[in-house]
Amino acid sequence: MYFGVDYHPEHWVYPYAGTEENPEARWERDAELMAGAGFNVVRMGEFSWGLCEREEGNYDFAWLRRAMDIMAKKEIKVVLGTPTAAPPLWLSKKHPEILPLDERGLPLHEGTRHAYCVNSDVYWDYSKKIVRAMAGALGDHSQLIAWQIDNGIGGHATEFSFNEEARRDWHAWLRAKYETIERLNDCMGTRFWGQTVTDWSQVPMPMVAPTVHNPALVLDWMRFSSDTAVAYVKCQADLLHELTPNIPVTTNLRALTRHFDHFDMASALDFVSVDSNATIKSKSAENACEIDMLRSLKKDGIRTPDGDCGFWVIEQKAGHVNWQEVNSLVRPGVVRLFTYQLLSRGASGVLYFFWRQPRIGSEKFYGGVLTHDGRGDNRVYREISQIGDEIKLLAPVLKDTCVCAETCILFTHDNAWTLKLPMQPNRNFNYREHLQLFHSALHDRNIAVDFARATEELSRYKIVFAPSLHMIAGGEADLLKLYVQNGGTLVSTFNTGLVDEHHIAPDSGFPANLTDLFGLEVTEFDPLPPGEENHLTFKGTFPTSHLHPAKVWCDLIEPKECEVLATYSKDFYAGRPAMTMNNYGLGRAIYIGTMSHQYFYYDLIAWLRQLCNLYPLLKVPDTVEVSMRQKDGTKIYFLLNHQHSPVRLQFYKPMHDFLTGHDVAGNYDLPPHGVLVLDEHPKKRETEETETIPVPAAAPEGEMAKVPV
Ligand code: GAL
Repeated sequence: MYFGVDYHPEHWVYPYAGTEENPEARWERDAELMAGAGFNVVRMGEFSWGLCEREEGNYDFAWLRRAMDIMAKKEIKVVLGTPTAAPPLWLSKKHPEILPLDERGLPLHEGTRHAYCVNSDVYWDYSKKIVRAMAGALGDHSQLIAWQIDNGIGGHATEFSFNEEARRDWHAWLRAKYETIERLNDCMGTRFWGQTVTDWSQVPMPMVAPTVHNPALVLDWMRFSSDTAVAYVKCQADLLHELTPNIPVTTNLRALTRHFDHFDMASALDFVSVDSNATIKSKSAENACEIDMLRSLKKDGIRTPDGDCGFWVIEQKAGHVNWQEVNSLVRPGVVRLFTYQLLSRGASGVLYFFWRQPRIGSEKFYGGVLTHDGRGDNRVYREISQIGDEIKLLAPVLKDTCVCAETCILFTHDNAWTLKLPMQPNRNFNYREHLQLFHSALHDRNIAVDFARATEELSRYKIVFAPSLHMIAGGEADLLKLYVQNGGTLVSTFNTGLVDEHHIAPDSGFPANLTDLFGLEVTEFDPLPPGEENHLTFKGTFPTSHLHPAKVWCDLIEPKECEVLATYSKDFYAGRPAMTMNNYGLGRAIYIGTMSHQYFYYDLIAWLRQLCNLYPLLKVPDTVEVSMRQKDGTKIYFLLNHQHSPVRLQFYKPMHDFLTGHDVAGNYDLPPHGVLVLDEHPKKRETEETETIPVPAAAPEGEMAKVPV
C-alpha cells in the first residue's frame, strides 16, 4: 500500500533551508524523516511550472530529478503533478487571452493559481508543451509511479469562463448536440420570454443579466463547461499515456463542490484520487458520505500504481487548515481516526497534505506533518509515524480488499445542478441535506452504500435510494423500471420527475414517466416554509420509534395501485397518502412524498432491512462507525469511535485486532478516537502462515463475533 505525503522540495532550498553552498541540502533530511514516518511515496511538482520553465522554452527539470534521486535512496516513490494548475507569469503576460473572464466579462488576473480559461487554445498548446517536456525529462525515472494531472481542476470556481473562445466552443458544442436551430429552440423552450434564436451565434452564455437565464440553457452551459474540463484532463491523459504508457494517471477530486461531472472525469483517469477535509469536519457521517461518493466514481477499469483496487486520497489534511475563520488545532488521535475512516471505506493509498509548514507563501500557517522548524519531534509527525507503523502491518491484509455495498444512492450531476437553479418550488430545500438524511441513516446503522448513476448496472444492489431526482431523463426512468421489474427495491421521494433532461415539465403527471412504477400520481405539491410542519400517521407494519414530522415539501398523492403506508395528519390534505409502496414486476417501488427528521430515516432503514434481508455489518453502539473491506474468504472490519469518551463493546467471541496483534474478547472499551481493525477468521489465517501478522492462539474458528447494542 502506498502511504505518503505531498512534498514541495522547491520550498526547502536556500535561503529558506539548506545552505548557500548546498542549497538543496535539506532534501536528504526530509527523505530520512519521511522514511522514518513510514512514507513510501511523495507527490510533487504540481505548481512548479514557473520554476521548470522560467522563460519560454527554457526548461529545467533537473532539480526535480535531483529530488526524485534523493527519494530513490530511501525507496520513496513519486507521483508527479503536471504543473498546469499554476501558469507562469510570462505566459499570461505574453497571452493575456488565457485569463478567464467572469460572468461580468471581467478578467481574473494573473499572479496566483488557476488563472486560466480551459477553452483557451493557447493554454492547451502551452499545457501540452510543458507536459510533453516534463514527461520527456522525468518519465523514465525509476521512482515515478503515477502522474497527477493539473491540481484541483475547477478550483476557485474557475470551471466557467466567459471568453470569446469559450463562446466559440459553446456554440460548437450546441451545434453538435442539437444539429439544427429548430431543435435547439424546441428543446430549450426558447419561446418563453421570446428567447428564440435564428443563428447559433445568437445563443447567449449565461452572463450577468437583469434576471434569470433560461434554465435549460444554464444546464447546457454546465454540461458544456463540464465536458470542457474533462476534455482538458483527457488531452493531458492521452499525451501522458502516449509518452509513458506504463504510468497511470489520476487527478485530485473533491465531492460535491466542483462543477463538473465527476463520473465523466473519472472515466478519463486510470484511478481516482481525492482531497479530503476529513480532519476538520466534525460529522463523521458527512465525511463518510463524501468518501462513498468519490469511491463510487470509478467502479471498473481501475489501474492504480500497485494494481490494487479502490481510490487514493492524495491530499488528506495532516492538521488544521488556513481558510476557516478560526483554524483550531486538530486534536490528538483525530488524524489517525480519519485516516482509518478513509481506509475503511476503500482507500488503497493515502498521502497527507503537506510535508512541512512552508516558511513562504499563503499557506504558511496551514498544518503540515512537520512544523516550520522541520525537526520531526512534533506531535503530528509522531502521530503520523504511528500510523505509518500500523500501515506496514495492515498493507498485506488490505491488499485487494474492497468495499462491497448492497445498497446505493442514485446521484447525477445534471440533477444536482438542476436543483441549484433559481426559482425552485422551495428555496429552503437543500439537496445535500436530503441525500445526507439517507446516507446518515445507512452510515449510522453500518450498512455499506455506493453512489451510482441510473445508467449503471443497478441489479447488484438490493435497495436503490433515489432522493429528489428532480430531473430524470426518459431513458433513466426506463432503467429504474427495469431494476424494479427484475426484483429490486427502489425508494424515491418528493421532488422526483418534475422535469426531463431538457428541463421540460411533463403533461402526464408527476413523477414523469414513473407514475406506473409507483402506482400513483402526484397532482400537486405543497412546499412548506421553515418551521412549518405537517405530521405523518402510519398504517400497517412500518415501525415508528418517534412521531415523525413532514417538512419542507408535501406531495399531494393520488393513489392508484399502490399500498398507502402513511398519511398526512393535518391541513386540507389530512388523510391523504404521504408514503406508499407498489409491487411492480418482481420488485417494489416505495415513494416518500415528504421530508422528515433523521429518526424517520432510521425507522425506514430498520423496516427495509427486514423487507430486503439486509444485515448491518456488526451491531455496535450508535456512536461507533463500522465498515468492512473484503475479498474472497476474508472480511476485515474497521470499528471507529468518533466520540471524545470511551465506548464499551461486547464481544461474545474473540476477534483478532491487527493493530495490536491481540485478541479482543468480552467487554472491550474502545478509547476516544480509538480504532480496531478486526478479522473474522483468525484461525484460517493461522493455517495460511501469515508471518507479518501475529495470530492469537486461542481464537475460535467460524462465525463472526457478535457485538450487541
Ligand atoms: C487543495 C489544493 C492544495 C491546497 C489545499 C488547501 O485543493 O490542492 O494545494 O491549497 O487545497 O486546502
